Amino acid sequence: MGLVEAPGWKLVYAHCSGCHGLELVTAQQGDRAFWTAAIRRMQASENLWQFEARVEDQLLTYLSRHYGVPPFAGRRAPLPASLRPSTVGRED
Ligand code: HEC
Repeated sequence: MGLVEAPGWKLVYAHCSGCHGLELVTAQQGDRAFWTAAIRRMQASENLWQFEARVEDQLLTYLSRHYGVPPFAGRRAPLPASLRPSTVGRED
């Protein structure tokens, strides 16, 4: 079935698999704003129904948590002071 099994997956299964495959969902990664925009676009032009606020909140929480943006990993933690080159050239 392909969805991460965590709270909310049944709602996503129920509401998001009727028109297209769930691969279309699970292939995406985005934050809450991305998923909100996807839902609004489908509601505006693809006949996606409206959700109760509580249901929409659960859908968005599930999607942004399990199909969200991975944490930024581009930079390592700073070196400990003992490994920094600040001692180079120091007159001891
Ligand atoms: C009423 C029909 C319908 C339902 C239900 C539906 N979608 Fe879609 N969705 C579409 C259509 C139509 C497309 C465009 C498919 C294409 O371009 O081939 C689409 C495309 C997408 C895409 C592809 C990226 C994009 O934005 O075009 C994503 C992601 C997506 N849907 C997520 C969802 C999620 C999440 C749900 C459940 C909240 C959902 N869909 C429920 C009709 C629906």
